[in-house]
Amino acid sequence: MDSLTIPTIFDDNPNMCLIVVDKEGIVTYINKTYMSVLNVAPDEVLGQPIASVTPNTYTTRVLRTGKAITAYNWNINGYEMMASAVPIFEADELVGCFAYSISMNIWDHKSRLESLLVENNMLKGEVLKAHTSRYSFDDLIGEESQFLQAKILARQVARQDNTKVLITGESGTGKELFAHAIHNSSMRSSRPFVRVNCAAIPETLLEAELFGYEDGAFTGAKKGGRMGKFELANNGTIFLDEIGEMPMAMQSKLLVVLQEQVIERLGGNLPINVNVRVISATNRNLESMVEKGLFREDLFYRLNVVQIEIPPLRQRRGDIRQLVNAFLQCLNRRLHMHIKGVKDEAMEVLLKYSWPGNVRELENAMERAMSLAHMDQADMIGKRHLAFICAKIKINCWEGSKGLKTIVQEFEEQLISDALAETGNNKPQAAQYLNIDVSSLYRKMRKYGIPVD
Ligand SMILES: Nc1ncnc2c1ncn2[C@@H]1O[C@H](COP(=O)(O)OP(=O)(O)O)[C@@H](O)[C@H]1O
Ligand SMILES: [Mg+2]
Repeated sequence: MDSLTIPTIFDDNPNMCLIVVDKEGIVTYINKTYMSVLNVAPDEVLGQPIASVTPNTYTTRVLRTGKAITAYNWNINGYEMMASAVPIFEADELVGCFAYSISMNIWDHKSRLESLLVENNMLKGEVLKAHTSRYSFDDLIGEESQFLQAKILARQVARQDNTKVLITGESGTGKELFAHAIHNSSMRSSRPFVRVNCAAIPETLLEAELFGYEDGAFTGAKKGGRMGKFELANNGTIFLDEIGEMPMAMQSKLLVVLQEQVIERLGGNLPINVNVRVISATNRNLESMVEKGLFREDLFYRLNVVQIEIPPLRQRRGDIRQLVNAFLQCLNRRLHMHIKGVKDEAMEVLLKYSWPGNVRELENAMERAMSLAHMDQADMIGKRHLAFICAKIKINCWEGSKGLKTIVQEFEEQLISDALAETGNNKPQAAQYLNIDVSSLYRKMRKYGIPVD
């Protein structure tokens, strides 16, 4: 059978797999490259029926029909190739068939695959390192009762693996810290903790950020696509920060994901199962947003399974001392300083101020005061290092030539605003604080244009 002999140039051609069968489908030839791909020795193949070597072979069909099948995808042992099976005729008689498949360079693919696997494992490690919770409950300083209750509730809910948590509180009260701590003492602590700041990502990018996208999903999409935060957080926790800023259209998509626990990448059509715990946080009043139609009610109830409310710092002034000492230690270490403490006169200022920016503002104020004390070569923070806070407490009476009446009115307005801020807008309490009755508080609020509701 001359027509079935093969020129040696095909024998160890690394770019080509080649196999020949006779008209009964018995293998008469196989080249070295194909033997490597199949991981077989010559005597395991030669003289054997082709169906026992590659059960999905196209050659059987070619032998039956006498027609070539060209350019089909041939996936074998992890190699993806383009193959063709061609009949062999001798004087019009079908005597066999040969099949060949070509890869640009299959060995390149193999080593590329291996190096991608190595790279993939390394990146997984990096992802975990980058997306991990950095704080635990021990980092949450504060013992005042409302704060302590929040901490107790958070500890408890951390152990309930799948329970969704909504953390509320003003900006700077420690919502993010709580989210870290919950993840850290949950069963998912060795898995990723992924934060998404819903306020910082433009609406058009949020979907891609959360759910990822496939190659070519939109102009500018990365080659090969990209994983979204939900996929990244799989088996771990996703922290949806500033959830109150999420646009309505995204809220609907998020709701579906939470209901079905399945995501779809942008431009893709394969559903991907995700197992993710959701913790969200906001400084907005979501209930009133729901009432105004700015937040989906069904999503609100999904997210708000357990709500943890963190009190503002002005409602737990008893914790200020402890926080100040902790920041002092930590900042001394970070800034290489040796400030020993805070003088009574300075502590008085810190205790008196209303801290609209909460713990974050206190932390920043400490850093600023410490730098000033350091420049002063003082080893204690004094009142003069807190002049920037004192300035906010006092109102500047001698500025311009306003006249006594204006100054008194401004002072009154300031005192009322402060009292309202101090009491979290609790009018009866603010009135008591100012020693006036509630009706005159309302009258003055209207007079100064302070919103009553
Ligand atoms: N109870 C606390 N103990 C120690 N540090 C705190 C506490 N609460 C907040 N902080 C610090 O204050 C800053 C703001 O906290 P963060 O969690 O980002 O607040 P939020 O998310 O509510 O705006 C962070 O630097 C955090 O470390
Ligand atoms: Mg925050």
